[in-house]
Amino acid sequence: MKFFIDSADIKEIQDCWEMGLIDGVTTNPSLAAKAGRKYDDILKDIAGLVEGPISAETISLDLEGMLKEAYHFAKIHKNIVIKIPMTLTGMKGVKKLASEGIKTNVTVTFSANQALLAAKAGATYVSPFVGRLDDISEVGMDLIQDIRTIYDNYDFKTQILVASIRHPIHVRDAALIGADVATIPYSVIKQLAQHPLTDIGIEKFIKDWEKIPK
Ligand code: E4P
Repeated sequence: MKFFIDSADIKEIQDCWEMGLIDGVTTNPSLAAKAGRKYDDILKDIAGLVEGPISAETISLDLEGMLKEAYHFAKIHKNIVIKIPMTLTGMKGVKKLASEGIKTNVTVTFSANQALLAAKAGATYVSPFVGRLDDISEVGMDLIQDIRTIYDNYDFKTQILVASIRHPIHVRDAALIGADVATIPYSVIKQLAQHPLTDIGIEKFIKDWEKIPK
């Protein structure tokens, strides 16, 4: 399973990139607002650092505006993937961009049928939001299993990009199901390395090292 970092914070991205833990980056307007910098500048900085897909999100709901934003982002760097919201107009955008060799990521996706539409339109990635489903008392991971089954049934090539990840169990479950990608916040990437027995084990080895005659 590939790891993307879900962030627009260049320091977080650089930290994970240097550890060799990430294969790409996803951004969205909320993350860019949190970073407090111009979206284009954020994308340029990420592209200068990370060798892998970088999702940039379009906001327009009409096709003309959506495509204008998409072409603008696509010109920033060859690794930019265009995030398109899950709407019927969005599917027209996906089809057009796919026909021109521009990669897309269908976002704000919450059902298996929406994922089926994304695949049929030719999306490179589909982003089901597991955490937001959990928030409304639906089991987000059930959706990932459903999409995996449907895509495998028909050999769809669209990659399942598990989004809205909130904790390490989401990452483990996504990997067990066979999701293609998990986009993970910085805080959760750091949590993945933690185990109390690791801390205890390291401490014991350091203490025992001090007992060895030097
Ligand atoms: C996906 O690409 C989105 O950026 C993100 O995962 C949404 O997560 P949230 O529900 O934590 O905002």
